Amino acid sequence: MAGEIPVIAIDGPTASGKGTVAGRVAERLGWNLLDSGSIYRMVALSAFKRGVEVSDEAALVPLAAGLDARFEQGAILLDGEDVSVAVRREETGNAASRLAAHPRVREALLERQRAFLQAPGLVADGRDMGSVVFPHAPLKIFLTASVEARADRRYKQLIAKGLPANIDSLLHDLRERDARDTHRAVAPLRPCEDAVLLDTTRMSIDEAVRFVLDLAHDRGVA
Ligand code: DC
Repeated sequence: MAGEIPVIAIDGPTASGKGTVAGRVAERLGWNLLDSGSIYRMVALSAFKRGVEVSDEAALVPLAAGLDARFEQGAILLDGEDVSVAVRREETGNAASRLAAHPRVREALLERQRAFLQAPGLVADGRDMGSVVFPHAPLKIFLTASVEARADRRYKQLIAKGLPANIDSLLHDLRERDARDTHRAVAPLRPCEDAVLLDTTRMSIDEAVRFVLDLAHDRGVA
């Protein structure tokens, strides 16, 4: 039964390193990975492509419900086209954060996200993995870091990908996105009561991965 397949939910703000940590934990355990942020980002790309405004909830809902999104060997495909680079752009993330505030858009993406729950287990990365999508996850982590550390990480990530980046505008955008993701009415970004807080400001990725794996082992989740 799907309910018995273990889930490690890793939620937290943007650029906290949770995507990298989630990816490595999934790899180490041989589990599936859900990068839910990419799904919201793909809705944004699809909206750009079709000229739909991110404020237009009614137009976004069918677009989210019918999203032709695939994850294949590290590549992210939208309508069969490789969008792995475009999906990571800051403008895509900002638009995703805006459209993610619409309750009906979130609802339209719910089953698609739950379909990632396949044996032997799932590591799910996002904002509402522990609170809404997988509320029964046996291990929930809220992974965060200071806004300065996150801006610095995002800057390095973008530069490494050959994408444009500016540290001051990144700081500004991260603060704005944190406020939007935290204060929205539906599924706001906040730690669940049963989540373990992990502040990685002074931690390396390897240390954070080890922390999650140790906790999963200690709790008998993996
Ligand atoms: O994690 P990310 O930066 O790729 O996510 C992009 C935006 O998508 C984020 O600012 C808010 C939204 N999002 C969400 O609302 N719920 C999720 N589970 C994942 C992302």
